[in-house]
Amino acid sequence: MNYSNKLVLITGASSGIGEAAAQEFAKLKANLVLVSRNKEKLEQLAKSLSKYNVRILVFPCDVSNKDQVIEMSKIVLEKFDKIDILVNNAGFGIYNTVNETSIEEIESQLATNFFGMLYCTKAFLPSMLQQRSGHIVNVASVAASIGIPKMASYCASKFAMLGFSEGLFHELQGTGVGITVVSPIMVRTNFFNNNSFNKMPHYSSISLSATTVAKAIVRASSSPRLEIIVPQFVRIAVWFKQTFPYLINPIIGSIFKRSLQSKT
Ligand SMILES: NC(=O)c1ccc[n+]([C@@H]2O[C@H](COP(=O)([O-])OP(=O)(O)OC[C@H]3O[C@@H](n4cnc5c(N)ncnc54)[C@H](OP(=O)(O)O)[C@@H]3O)[C@@H](O)[C@H]2O)c1
Repeated sequence: MNYSNKLVLITGASSGIGEAAAQEFAKLKANLVLVSRNKEKLEQLAKSLSKYNVRILVFPCDVSNKDQVIEMSKIVLEKFDKIDILVNNAGFGIYNTVNETSIEEIESQLATNFFGMLYCTKAFLPSMLQQRSGHIVNVASVAASIGIPKMASYCASKFAMLGFSEGLFHELQGTGVGITVVSPIMVRTNFFNNNSFNKMPHYSSISLSATTVAKAIVRASSSPRLEIIVPQFVRIAVWFKQTFPYLINPIIGSIFKRSLQSKT
């Protein structure tokens, strides 16, 4: 795909996977709309990308706030008429048991990870359908297919994202608009800086770089597939869990129990 003069809007662009995706798209000469809450970080990123000579609009916006997303999309569409690629990447997780997580903490993860994606999709899908082209890339997680202890509400937000995307994937057949979910596992980003991860090892030897996931996002933006799992071999684990849940779920449970015992 030729990305020059395409317009890519990335949510959660101020850090980690979103920031790396902005870099990868800029290298391909795509114009960018960078969205997150932290304006300063977005401006720093835009400055560092100026060497690629692409148009960049920085837009501070909390995607969990429906009114802010509507306002942001109105201004973006007035300025550019259309966006070609929407990357719904903004998200965060809280690591704790359901019993020890407040309802507000659970709601906040769904508000950003699921409803943020929904608001942005609803805001930009009509113009994509009208132009009969465009692609939505939703950044989910392997936690969209495997329930992880102490991440139940994060998993709920990502299962919801994957289910929504699968339904929409079928609806979009023949419209010229596509949707692909990118589901990574363990990426070295600020994701694990949330205090709730204090007692959990942040990275393992197989942790991915944000750039590896960003390259998968670029591939996803012109892919006919519903889901790209990164790294690819983890698809086998997802397949095993979905095919033999009675075998795999007790293994996940006992790994969790052992990891808890080793920390107490
Ligand atoms: N790291 C991993 O191991 C991993 C694995 C699987 C999936 N993921 C997914 O990858 C995505 C990106 O995460 P990351 O690993 O790159 O983490 P990160 O470095 O913490 O980046 C998260 C990004 O989301 C933005 N964000 C958070 N809440 C927002 C809100 N309400 N409105 C707008 N922007 C918001 C943050 O920017 P501001 O603070 O400036 O708003 C930041 O740019 C997330 O959806 C995450 O669930 C991560």
